[in-house]
Parts: sequence; C-alpha cells; structure tokens
Amino acid sequence: MKYNIALVPGDGIGPEIIADAVEVLEKTAEKFGHEFVFTEYAAGGNAIDKCGIPLPQETVDGCLAADSVMLGAVGGPKWDSQPNHLRPEKALLGLRKALGLYTNLRPAKIQPALADACVLRPDIAARGFDLMIVRELTGGIYFGDRGRNEAGDEAYDTEKYSVAEVERVARRAFETARKRRGHVTSVDKANVLESSRLWRETVHRLGETEYPDVKLDDMYVDNAAMQIIRDPSFFDVIVTSNMFGDILSDEASQVTGSIGLLASASLGETSRGMYEPIHGSAPDIAGTGLANPIATILSAAMMLRYSFDLSEEADYIENAVSEVLEEGWRTRDIKAPEDETWLTGSQMKDKILEHMA
Ligand code: IPM
Ligand code: MG
Repeated sequence: MKYNIALVPGDGIGPEIIADAVEVLEKTAEKFGHEFVFTEYAAGGNAIDKCGIPLPQETVDGCLAADSVMLGAVGGPKWDSQPNHLRPEKALLGLRKALGLYTNLRPAKIQPALADACVLRPDIAARGFDLMIVRELTGGIYFGDRGRNEAGDEAYDTEKYSVAEVERVARRAFETARKRRGHVTSVDKANVLESSRLWRETVHRLGETEYPDVKLDDMYVDNAAMQIIRDPSFFDVIVTSNMFGDILSDEASQVTGSIGLLASASLGETSRGMYEPIHGSAPDIAGTGLANPIATILSAAMMLRYSFDLSEEADYIENAVSEVLEEGWRTRDIKAPEDETWLTGSQMKDKILEHMA
C-alpha cells in the first residue's frame, strides 16, 4: 500500500530524530512491500524564522491532505520572548485543533530491560506498570477564553468542557480499556471545579450505559499525582482533561526513568493522526548527536498501528527496539552520564535497523 506521510520535524533535536524514524519506516516499507511518501513542512520556531509565523497555512493544508503526520518537537529559548500568538507552541496547538485531534494517547510503562532506570522504590518498581493516559487534547483551559484587564494587573484563563467533548474522549478511553485490562480511572478536581463535576457525571453516564463491562473509578488529580509515585500499577487507563493530562503524562513518563523512549498518538474521528515523542525539543543537546531516537521510532510504530492498521509492521519495529534494549545498548539519557559506554542517537538507530534485517 502507498501512504502519504507529512513530516513536521520542528526545532532542536526534532529534525535528527525524525530523520532516524524515516529510515526505520523506509526499512519497514521495503520489508513489507509498502510505499511511504514523505513531505516535509515547517512549524514552530523554524517556521517563525522562515515566514514570521509558527504555523503556516501550507503546513496545515499539507497535514490535512496527508494520510498521517509525524512530528518531532517544537520550541526553544530562541523564541521564548515571542508574544503569545507567535510562540512555537502555538504550532502544536494549532495543528491539534486544525486536524481535530481530540484524543492524545500517552502510554507509560516500565521496559523490563530498563527496570533499574525506574525512579520508584525497588519493591514497587518490581511490580512493573503499564498505563495509558488518554488526554483530552482540543478543549479545556488550553483553548478557553483568556485575557487581561485593561490595567494589565489581572489575567484569566477558562476551563470549559461540554458533554459532547467529554463523551468523545471518554469513549476512546473505554474502548482502549477494553483492549487492555478493562479498567478506567477518570481523573478530575470535582471537589472544587464545576467543569470537573460535569466531566465526572458524563463519564459515569457513558460508562453505565455503553461500557458496563469496564471497571470505572474516579480520582482527584492531586491524589492521582501521588498514586503515580506511590504505586502506578494501580492504573490501567487514565482519562483526563487537557491540562491534567499534560501534567500527569510528564510525571508518569519520568517515573519510568526513560522519557526518551515514550511515544504518543493524537487521534480524531478519521484515521489520520499525529505521532510524536513525549519529550521536547531538547535545544541543549541539538546537533550533538546525543538525542535518543527511540521515542520517535516507537511513535512511527504507533502510526502504523493506529492510522494504517499495520499491526504486524508495528510489532516488527517494536520488537527490534526491545531486542536492542535487552542486549544492553543504551543512549546517554538512559544511562548514567559518567558511564562512557553509550551509543549516539544515530548509532542507536543503526542498531535498531540491524535488528530489522
Ligand atoms: C505536550 C507539551 C505541549 C502541551 C506544549 C509544548 C504546548 O507540553 O505536548 O505535552 O502542553 O500540550
Ligand atoms: Mg507536556
């Protein structure tokens, strides 16, 4: 089959890790007889430098016309003083909105070969964990009304959710749980926020009427933040709002001790998704060759699985990555920096390619 893939490499380490993922996709295409056609688009700081805005219309149109999108990362200190509407992050938010990607899947799990990198107490780490954060991605405080008063000494942002917005992301969470361990935890702040009370009511109504087979419980976001550190094996699927999901997903990924390995998928109503590593643009190591390409390579595997329904091909990539890690190969981010036996990003990619032979 032929697939058109829009590449949005972005800033910092984005272009390096996207180039590595492209090599892995090309090898997969060759092995399974597919054709992947890649077209590159600017977004983020590099787009600001090139055309004065973070998200050119050409990028939006190109992504809308593609079968799927792979994104590296956007942002960096160079653009930190830009006014709000011209910040690189606007590109990411704009793409999510324009592509209708209201669900963000962020898996966090301990790789058995990397259990020693996990920051949890050893007896808790030994239990392992494998959780999926289902984050609402196009609503809430990220997109609500915001502003300042005339004097500029007061500012506000608005958290607002409709039943329809909660239902569609909750449905994704229930469906995801059905394919996993059948347990959804809805995370909110219903002891304080009205939007959270509507969130909770809606998730429960949907659960009772359409997903009675899935176990549903609730947790306040502060307790969930604690539980992720205390014992994350409690969780299977967490469904939560845009901002809570942003925070909890960074926490959960860091707890694994290997944020450089974690992929994510942003999905909407169609099969077109946007796939990106959970980590950021890491401007401090851009160009040094240190960036770990694994999260982006695993994001490419997620794209094959979720957008193109190519699960055998996705397994093939994921298995190669696991084998390389099981053999003990490490990039510097998953190894103590004083230990000299780590691979550069492109050496890691080459190891993965060797295992795909
Ligand atoms: C993420 C990032 C973005 C977000 C930023 C860069 C706008 O933190 O994808 O988690 O907050 O969604
Ligand atoms: Mg974040």
